[in-house]
Amino acid sequence: MMTHETNVHYASPGHYGRIVQGLEALGMSPALVDFDDLAALDEFHLRGPAATRELIEILGVGADSHVLDVGSGLGGPARRLAKATGCRVTGVDLSEDYCAVGNELTGWLGLSERVRLEPGDATRLERFAPSSFDAAWSIHVGMNVEDKGSLYAGVAHVLKPGAPFVLFDILSAGAGEPTYPAPWAATPEQSFLATADEMSAHLERAGFSIIEIKDQTSQALGFLDENIARMKSLGGPPPLGLHLVLGPTFKEIIAVARRNLAEGRLAPTVIYTRKN
Ligand SMILES: C[S@@+](CC[C@H](N)C(=O)[O-])C[C@H]1O[C@@H](n2cnc3c(N)ncnc32)[C@H](O)[C@@H]1O
Repeated sequence: MMTHETNVHYASPGHYGRIVQGLEALGMSPALVDFDDLAALDEFHLRGPAATRELIEILGVGADSHVLDVGSGLGGPARRLAKATGCRVTGVDLSEDYCAVGNELTGWLGLSERVRLEPGDATRLERFAPSSFDAAWSIHVGMNVEDKGSLYAGVAHVLKPGAPFVLFDILSAGAGEPTYPAPWAATPEQSFLATADEMSAHLERAGFSIIEIKDQTSQALGFLDENIARMKSLGGPPPLGLHLVLGPTFKEIIAVARRNLAEGRLAPTVIYTRKN
């Protein structure tokens, strides 16, 4: 099981300072920054804000809702959701550092009343009361969690009956083991991929009904190709981007991810469920 100590892939000390430097390089400051300025960095999943907007539509929550973001990272998706719908979001993430930096970014965007990121292991959600959330989502997290049974049973426990739970994860696609480093794992030991059938079985056992499963491979390939072309034209990554979090192997990580997708080893997939 991943713990605070073994969540090393996401350890990136000093990235608050690097974010501020990246902003300055763009002639901006925390007081002036807007959502889309941060999106290349704080939406740590394939297709970035475009995917988040689609997930917001699918989730279908309103201003009275309280949403759980399972593995919230730096909180970009949580902030976009709160801004778009007026809802409240509580994020849980194993990385204390991501939560601390993410809460700073939330303050920059004036959303601290409605978005809170809390450090913790999403396979242990006992601190939340049963049936206390109206909806949940989890974006690019399951690949890091070995104990998916506890993860999804815990999410089901804290959701109200009938509540939507939307996942956007990278699944194993059948054409063999992916190569590494991947965006979520430097080595295979940090990676716990499931197939669509395995994910469905985990979710159904935890008490969810599957409503729809949508493969996003071609859209994700398009997204990576755009980013690779952009980096080429700029002669490197833009001042604010995921390389600030992923470190110096960023370029290799993106190239390997593209190959894994193109060769049918990985399938980015949206899974729309409801708690029974
Ligand atoms: C690829 S990032 C995605 C972050 C965010 N959902 C997004 O889309 O921007 C994966 C996140 O999952 C978190 N994570 C991995 N295992 C976890 C666990 N057991 N409990 C909570 N968070 C976890 C990591 O710390 C990391 O921030």
